[in-house]
Amino acid sequence: MAKKNVEIIQKAGIDVNKLIEMLIKAAAAEFVTYYYYTVLRSHATGIEGEAIKEIIEDARIEDRNHFEALVPRIYELGGKLPNDLVEFARKAGCMEPKLPENPSIKEILKVLLEAERCAVGIYSGICKYTFGKDPRTYDLSLAILHEEIEHEAWFEELLTGEPSGHFRRRRPGESPYTSKFLKT
Ligand SMILES: [Fe+2]
Ligand SMILES: [Fe+2]
Repeated sequence: MAKKNVEIIQKAGIDVNKLIEMLIKAAAAEFVTYYYYTVLRSHATGIEGEAIKEIIEDARIEDRNHFEALVPRIYELGGKLPNDLVEFARKAGCMEPKLPENPSIKEILKVLLEAERCAVGIYSGICKYTFGKDPRTYDLSLAILHEEIEHEAWFEELLTGEPSGHFRRRRPGESPYTSKFLKT
């Protein structure tokens, strides 16, 4: 028997299998991003690198938080994560933010910015699909979207010198919007 929450959103017009797939792709992109941001952060070296290391760390931990926040919703909807990490990684809805061949700070920032832009697109899409139909997934995606837009603004400011209007987090991975969905 379908769960009540699934039945209600289906009646509202959601294709639950499609939504689960969208959430799995988003979760995979976050998981993959977390890994590659670890590599990118490690290569942010020298005086210039030191200046951006902390901000990569904020984005890295918040993207891991996004993975953590998405997983319970996938299961609530009746979906599940693939039991194969490689298969899961292949589902990522964004290009892998790999270390560039010439890992200068500028090139690293370009990779970070592209990854955040892709994430903004993913969550804008999930928000659009669930708006007025699935309040729980919408609220979760909106919370993540707020953080992705901030991540994008951080890296854009670093790359272009244009002000983002933001100041640093109080602690790495603070997740001011997504923290309400996290158990820890
Ligand atoms: Fe993220
Ligand atoms: Fe992000």
